[in-house]
Amino acid sequence: MKGILLAGGSGTRLHPMTLAASKQLLPVYDKPMVYYPLSTLMLAGIRDIMLISTPEDLPQFRRLLGDGSRFGVRFAYAEQPSPDGIAQAFLIGRDWIAGEACALALGDNLIHGDHLSALLRSAASGEAGATVFAYRVRDPERYGVVSFDADGQATEIVEKPVAPKSNWAVTGLYFYDKQVTDIAASIRPSARGELEITDLNKVYLEAGTLRVEQLSRGYAWLDAGTPDSLLQAATFVQTIQSRTGMLVGCPEEVAFRMGFIGADQLRDQAGGLGKTDLGRVLRDLADGVLG
Ligand code: G1P
Repeated sequence: MKGILLAGGSGTRLHPMTLAASKQLLPVYDKPMVYYPLSTLMLAGIRDIMLISTPEDLPQFRRLLGDGSRFGVRFAYAEQPSPDGIAQAFLIGRDWIAGEACALALGDNLIHGDHLSALLRSAASGEAGATVFAYRVRDPERYGVVSFDADGQATEIVEKPVAPKSNWAVTGLYFYDKQVTDIAASIRPSARGELEITDLNKVYLEAGTLRVEQLSRGYAWLDAGTPDSLLQAATFVQTIQSRTGMLVGCPEEVAFRMGFIGADQLRDQAGGLGKTDLGRVLRDLADGVLG
């Protein structure tokens, strides 16, 4: 399975912070925002990753991430010239996806929780259809909202409803089978002129092939698209890391734990991070000091 990291958009809800910098490169505590969804894709076992961003911002992502070898993955890069919707990622990536199954992670989404890798690997395991995740939130009107029937089957998904029928938001992490590029090509722009990811999900829902996994309260799902949610995400990462000494959303750590890189490579990466706490934790991990 391949994976797309979408880091486009103009980040208007974070102006003026995003007037001269990409939203997905802003810091979330001690790492650039894009590290968190990148770690999520890697935890799913995905090693072929296309990063899509604006023509202006793409060079900075290349500078940050390179060819991916230091994380034991391969990066491809592509431009999204104008913000025409999330589902457009599959049209931009069509040739690169080359008829395979493909996941998509939004560059401002952070998911953290126990046994996440097993959950993600099962979603990536290649069954026909699509898998998305739902998370209970207080402000569902900000998101795609999914309703369920009494048996827990998804019945409806609505993008940013004025009067949400449930509190279950669809997170920005999607796993699709190899039909995804054809389906993306068949959907039409919404009233706001975008190819909506919700419309793509609806095609799978109507075909009876959309699995909606409810993330229990043991998981944290955060986005970082507004000043408040950006600060909350940073505080969350700081709280977990300083309390436990374990890292959240660190692709070097994930690469090592997933077996994408070995201890020597991890030590090199830690060296590059100098005297930071992050570098120290990674050195301990390489030396077998951390379990
Ligand atoms: C997008 C999707 C929405 C989803 C959300 C998750 O919204 O359109 O369905 O719930 O991401 O972060 P956006 O944040 O681009 O407004």
